[in-house]
Amino acid sequence: MGAGASLASGYASPQAAGGGTDEAARMRWWHEARFGMFIHWGLYSVLGRHEWAMENEGIPVAEYELLAKRFQPEPNAARAWAKLAKAAGQKYMVMTTKHHEGFCLWNTKLTNYCAAKQACGRDLVAEFVEAARSEGLRVGFYYSLMDWHHPDGARCAHDEAARRRFVDYTQGLVRELCTNYGKLDVLWYDVNWPLTPEGWESAKMNRMVRELQPEIIINNRSGLPEDFSTPEQHIEAAKNHSWEACMTMNDSWGYQRTDDDWKTPKTIVRNVITCARDGGNYLLNIGPRADGSIPEESVEILTRTGQWMQRNGTSVYDIEPCQVKRSAFANFTRKGNTLYVHVHFWPGETVSIGGLTSKVKSARLLASGRQVSFEQTEFRVEFQGLPAAAPDDPVTTIAVECDSEPLQDTMAIRENRPRRGVGVDL
Ligand code: GLC
Repeated sequence: MGAGASLASGYASPQAAGGGTDEAARMRWWHEARFGMFIHWGLYSVLGRHEWAMENEGIPVAEYELLAKRFQPEPNAARAWAKLAKAAGQKYMVMTTKHHEGFCLWNTKLTNYCAAKQACGRDLVAEFVEAARSEGLRVGFYYSLMDWHHPDGARCAHDEAARRRFVDYTQGLVRELCTNYGKLDVLWYDVNWPLTPEGWESAKMNRMVRELQPEIIINNRSGLPEDFSTPEQHIEAAKNHSWEACMTMNDSWGYQRTDDDWKTPKTIVRNVITCARDGGNYLLNIGPRADGSIPEESVEILTRTGQWMQRNGTSVYDIEPCQVKRSAFANFTRKGNTLYVHVHFWPGETVSIGGLTSKVKSARLLASGRQVSFEQTEFRVEFQGLPAAAPDDPVTTIAVECDSEPLQDTMAIRENRPRRGVGVDL
């Protein structure tokens, strides 16, 4: 793989374009991680009507603030999240330290509107950090620049004195987050309304962040590209930039008690594979209830995903760019000369791939290690003697050893597959 390809594909490379070797070294763990847990938790979790309830329902600030009297999570709820993340095969966790509602989950000196000084009486960011670290997971802080609560949060756009106060407040909060919790791995900004990056003084802010946390990885939502971009609710590889797709398991980031639009474990596993294959990461969200408990549907999805990762994780974490194209029933990843065929719609006793130009040496079901017999012609490799029903769930992965890097030429089939002679009928 050439240096130019490294960032475009999102694969770690010692010579990533742009930031030089340091950047590549700093980003390495993140590229290898592939899969992280996003956590949306705040006063909106008390309402259970989505994290945008304050704005969507037009709730007055004074009425919304009362939720701070009711937000009293169980101590160390984050420990269960971290255990679940670890079991799911996730390598890092990113929690909302302050969402758009403006409520800070940590013990800040800059406002009383924070968990430590309200009914909760504890620093929930500290609990989160401790929980993630004790499971060996990397720690990320989400921070919303947009703030629906701060008096200057909107008027800063057209009042310079307000902007000065609000930017000082914002950078003061970010400074606390980068100072009080030891080494941080990710800073995940969100919505930069209503200011431009110049208005936020994002360049200065991010310089401060990097001074305090030299190895931190910063996303692009302060309005500057920084280390990675953040396609939301869809998977789309960024060109020339590392990327992470963030996604909900139902349709809400914050707890929504009646949102039943859950994705299946199959969809989630397919998404993990797609992100990894396309060189990105997958940040999958949970929206815990106000007490910190995780909706059962999320637990189930993550548990099943984790069981699959246990059996098949090597085909996702430690891989290289794959030239074989995804098809209607399978996606593909690659490590060296091994092609991983991830079959999501199981065809039956035979599974075939068209146009593979590399010679297959052997094949096995990755989960069980069972050998799979095969026949290869110029146009098709057919894996045979397989069970009628998919042997693994929710996706079956076949590890195919080739004699060289697995390559595919589908055009060659279309153009060269022998056809009947003109006038020769069936
Ligand atoms: C959007 C939403 C926000 C959510 C975020 C996650 O920006 O406004 O609620 O936290 O996406 O990416």
